[in-house]
Amino acid sequence: MNKVAIIGAGRVGESTAQFLATRDISREVVLTDIREGAAQGAALDIQESASLFGFDTRLRGASDNKIIEGADIVIITAGIPRKPGMSRADVMETNVRVLDEILDDVLKYAPDSMLLLVSNPVDTLTYHAIKRTGWDRNRVMGQAGVLDSSRMAAFVALETGLSAKYINAMVMGGHGDAMVPMTRFTTISGIAIEHFLSSDKIDEIIQRTRTGGAEILALKGNSSAYGAPAAAIAEMVEAIIYNRKSVLPTVAFLQGEYGEEDITIGVPAVLGERGMEKVIELDLNETEQSFFNTSVASIRKELSELSNIVNKA
Ligand code: 2OP
Repeated sequence: MNKVAIIGAGRVGESTAQFLATRDISREVVLTDIREGAAQGAALDIQESASLFGFDTRLRGASDNKIIEGADIVIITAGIPRKPGMSRADVMETNVRVLDEILDDVLKYAPDSMLLLVSNPVDTLTYHAIKRTGWDRNRVMGQAGVLDSSRMAAFVALETGLSAKYINAMVMGGHGDAMVPMTRFTTISGIAIEHFLSSDKIDEIIQRTRTGGAEILALKGNSSAYGAPAAAIAEMVEAIIYNRKSVLPTVAFLQGEYGEEDITIGVPAVLGERGMEKVIELDLNETEQSFFNTSVASIRKELSELSNIVNKA
């Protein structure tokens, strides 16, 4: 694959471009932003780090989405971010309108691409993108669980004092307070975390993971997280470009898996050259199933708000 497009050169978009360029995995990364000059400036700034990082990726920016022409993957980070105290769902109406305009351009300029949704509320916007494009589910997915899992892994590393490199955490469900950190599938070099941490500590980590985005937002005050989100996006894009068949939590459209259909939610999935190639269906225990059901219910509520927004338009 040769061309990755990022729509929205805010902090997440710009950091994603930097991480993708630094990984040197595509010929070209293009960035767009409606703020005149913002994407061009960001692209040039990153390009100027090429000799230091040793990458050959070419970066270009524009305020017109025509620049995404022929892109293989389009990452959508545009939209308004949350302000402290707002939920991800609070920004939905504005972000659906923003997304509609972007999708029109994607259909026009990059009709054969794959879409990776990042803007919030990500589960619902991914659903909207699938419905509006009419594309198969493998081509339209969202990023949430890779970030949430990375946050959980960081908290496990901080709590145990052990290397983050060997920690494998897994978070399923929606990207909201009802997300489902999967303790049973969180390990350090294959050893269950229960071996290292008391159940009280694990509960604290679960809670901190669920509110990880809000914690950063409250600390920074005027910005959501962008470093870890961008790193999570780069991980998913690399899995697709290199056809790695990586098992990563992905916002995917369910067609009967986990007993659900017509919903998008975070589940472990295989990512490769065809995008979201397969949903991995786990046998959930009673507790996990009940957390998952709560998360499903909160997304279904958002989806009904989405349908009000769509019908109003
Ligand atoms: C986060 O979790 C903003 O949803 C984003 O940080």
